[in-house]
Amino acid sequence: MRILACSFLFLLATFLPSFGQSSIREDAAKQQWILNAGESTYVIGVNDQGMLQSLYWGPKLEPGASLPAAKMKPERASFDPPIATTPLEYPAWGAGLFTEPALKVTSPNGDRTLILKFASAQVDGQQLEIVLKDVVQPVTVHLFYRAYPQGVIARWSRIENQAQSPFRIEQAMSAVWNLPQGTGYSLSWLTGQWAAEWQLHTAPLETGAQLLESRRGSTAHQANPWFAIGRTDQTNENAGPVWFGELGWSGSWRMVVESTALHNVRVTAGYNPYDFNYTLAPGQSLETPKFYAGYTAQGHGEASRILHRFQLAEILPGKPDPRPRPIIYNSWEATEFAVTEAGQISLADKAAKLGVERFVVDDGWFGARKDDHAGLGDWYVNQQKFPNGLKPLIDHVHALGMDFGLWVEPEMVNPDSDLYRKHPDWAMQFPNRQHTEQRNQLVLNLANPEVAAYVYQFLDQLLTDNNIAFLKWDYNRNWSEPGWTTGPGTSATAPNVDAEKQIYVQYVNNLYDILQRLRAKHPKVEIESCSGGGGRVDLGILRYTDEVWPSDNTDALDRIDIQYGFTHAYTPEVMVAWVTDVPNYLDRRVIPLQFRFLVAMQGALGIGGNLNKWTTEEMDTAQRLTAFYKTVRTTVQHGKLYRLQSPMNSEVSQVQYVAQDGSQAVLLAYLHSQHYGLAYPTVRLQGLDPKATYRIHALDAAKYADEATVQGSVLMGAGVELKLGGDYDSTALALEKLP
Ligand code: GLA
Repeated sequence: MRILACSFLFLLATFLPSFGQSSIREDAAKQQWILNAGESTYVIGVNDQGMLQSLYWGPKLEPGASLPAAKMKPERASFDPPIATTPLEYPAWGAGLFTEPALKVTSPNGDRTLILKFASAQVDGQQLEIVLKDVVQPVTVHLFYRAYPQGVIARWSRIENQAQSPFRIEQAMSAVWNLPQGTGYSLSWLTGQWAAEWQLHTAPLETGAQLLESRRGSTAHQANPWFAIGRTDQTNENAGPVWFGELGWSGSWRMVVESTALHNVRVTAGYNPYDFNYTLAPGQSLETPKFYAGYTAQGHGEASRILHRFQLAEILPGKPDPRPRPIIYNSWEATEFAVTEAGQISLADKAAKLGVERFVVDDGWFGARKDDHAGLGDWYVNQQKFPNGLKPLIDHVHALGMDFGLWVEPEMVNPDSDLYRKHPDWAMQFPNRQHTEQRNQLVLNLANPEVAAYVYQFLDQLLTDNNIAFLKWDYNRNWSEPGWTTGPGTSATAPNVDAEKQIYVQYVNNLYDILQRLRAKHPKVEIESCSGGGGRVDLGILRYTDEVWPSDNTDALDRIDIQYGFTHAYTPEVMVAWVTDVPNYLDRRVIPLQFRFLVAMQGALGIGGNLNKWTTEEMDTAQRLTAFYKTVRTTVQHGKLYRLQSPMNSEVSQVQYVAQDGSQAVLLAYLHSQHYGLAYPTVRLQGLDPKATYRIHALDAAKYADEATVQGSVLMGAGVELKLGGDYDSTALALEKLP
């Protein structure tokens, strides 16, 4: 029996992914809370002034470790009051706080200060709730902490009005993360634009504040709510401390990274206070989005792997073990708006031959949609294009062994649409103003319950009437007049601007609610978040969507950089990538088919070319590569990612993935362009079992000519030689761990 138990434990240890542990311990005597998440520890405590203070964030402390009691910093000079120099957990504006506040309110009597002191705490399993109260006003703040075994802690807050009259919240952040006081930090962050999202930057963190934000109503292309901070002289891809985090909110957000003159380093994020105002009636509360963060001592690579594991296990709708993404065919680049039953059937026939598993019809199937001037809002099938509805196409796709997906853009309306003619007031707008169109469309005000009900209802109907397995949910513009002319308490003569501004929170909450209800009613339907490419990717939307479209840029060379940035913050599982035609529509670049495929294989492979134009040879190549992808996709999408060679400022790049159970590894290697006839550099693998032997399955026999079985220590130490030459050459190895 004992032997059995031992071998069972051994089996568990061998096959279960090696996640860490999480725990929350209270040291009641010192009023401290010790949160362990994976290989990190976070400690907070109540200080001698009754304020909640951050005490430690770094490598895991030994069980029972105790920190000195929390203490307010002494006044350094009359210009540096303790409130501004002590690393507070949730600093409210008041009593001389000059750094970024977590909370700023105006009470009805004009009191604009808050001094939040500890009131109570409760540990419930992996969750800690701490209550703070203002010393004068009946304002209560609940701080929540949840520790996850993958090495992440989630923090958020709830602000409650227990007064008899309303008060106005002008700034409400989710949390402040205080790093160890000091200098020599470097900040990494992501910026972008349409067709060039996920640009990774790293620069020394100088004294001052750096603002990352969206004022656009949605997450946006221009910056992503993610940060990673390393030590300039210690941290790289494979080693060194990294404090990292991301905010789960799909509306306007702000993240402020401060390094004060006294070298207090902190990251504050939550609702964007720009144009923000949330009036809390008596008895009401406002909850802030979750701000997730973690620490690792093992460099940016490990920080990403922690986030990837965490997203798979705790965030995505398919958690804790989302199914690997099917191979998609999408018609957008092939046909644009010119979708017809016959045209799509012809593409579907060819896609099926390639091993595609899901056929997706993009924009153009509904209303009077000939181009982007009309139709958004009219979600009925266009009779000219599909005289018999979608059923014949869907049946055909099913008969070919694929499931069926459809593009929608539910939150938008074209002024040239039946919906707008009927409900012009459903679009966001300010009174007596010309609305601003972008891509000839307006944003529907989802904060309005009538609009939210309409959006849910038409989607529910669409999914009930048709056998649809997948929605590509698009969102192709930002906000311009975020007004609500028919909002609560508003009339034409007396607008209630206070109530109107709830749009910033209510819109997004209604969006989440619609997604959640649709998923509950249609549990088999999967959803992709798209916003003109990667304009709405964050841990808020990813709780309801299975994948994202990272960019409209499908040029394989650009895409290598885009995907490199993307994987710093999000798992390859959600990173959809299509192989499209050349010359590429954006930059006319011509890249060989295998290179395009191997780039798309870094995440969830899809195909988006016009298959009617592909030659027999191209179809054969595509079939072979799709079949290869199927043998490695679980490792790519669920494994540990090692960015072996960054593509930034390099003519070569490689990524490697190791299955969570170690049974397989995959290497994807690229030569962007060759100079001076130099041989491809030796590639040293990572994350393998040094003692194990691996059988190497080379995608191209001619590009890997060494032995078929090699020991892990050799693959990592001596590396592998690949014979790549010329421009846009590429290859892949699948490594099978032998028993
Ligand atoms: C957006 C998406 C594209 C495509 C078009 C359709 O730009 O990012 O993939 O769906 O809309 O109009």
